[in-house]
Amino acid sequence: MPMYIELVKYPDVFLRTKSNPVEFPLDDKTSRLIKYMYKAMYQNSGIGLAAIQVGYQKRMFVMDCSRSQTNEKVFINPEILEKSDETLRDNEGCLSAPGKTGDVRRHIRIILKYQNEKGEEEKKTFYNLEARCIQHEMDHLDGKLCIDYEKGNYSRDKHKSQTMVESDFRTKSDS
Ligand code: NI
Repeated sequence: MPMYIELVKYPDVFLRTKSNPVEFPLDDKTSRLIKYMYKAMYQNSGIGLAAIQVGYQKRMFVMDCSRSQTNEKVFINPEILEKSDETLRDNEGCLSAPGKTGDVRRHIRIILKYQNEKGEEEKKTFYNLEARCIQHEMDHLDGKLCIDYEKGNYSRDKHKSQTMVESDFRTKSDS
C-alpha cells in the first residue's frame, strides 16, 4: 500500500511562518525532500506544492500544470522580477485548505528568477495558469494563503466555527 503523505493544513499556524533560503549544493535530505514534494503533489492531484506544506521551511516549491504528470519542475529560492500590469481574478484552491477557495486577483504574466536542483540560476516568463500557480506558491513561502484574500467575505453567522479565520485561531491559541 502506498504511503499517504499528510499535508500541513489550515489553520495550523506553521503555514504562517516564513520559509528560509535553500543553500547549495543541495544536501541529500533536501534532494529527497524534493522527490517527496512531487509525490505529495501528485498524490493529492495538485498542480503546485510548497515545502512548507509538507513541514519544511524552505524557499522552494514544485509545479506541474500539465495534469498528466509530465512537466514536473522545482523552483528553488524563487523571486518574481517582473509582473504584468494585466491581472485576472479567479477562484483558487489550496491542498492545505481542503474545501475552501479564494477569489484572487493575479498578474497574468510574470518573469521568475529561480535556481534549479544544480543551483544554476534560471530566468523564465510564465503565463496564465502557471503564472497564477507560481504566485500562489510564492505566497506560501511568506506564510500567506489564497483564502486570506477572502477574509473580508467570511461571515461568522453563516459559516460558524467551521471557517474560523486565522486571527480567531491565533487569539485562541495565544490565550
Ligand atoms: Ni496552496
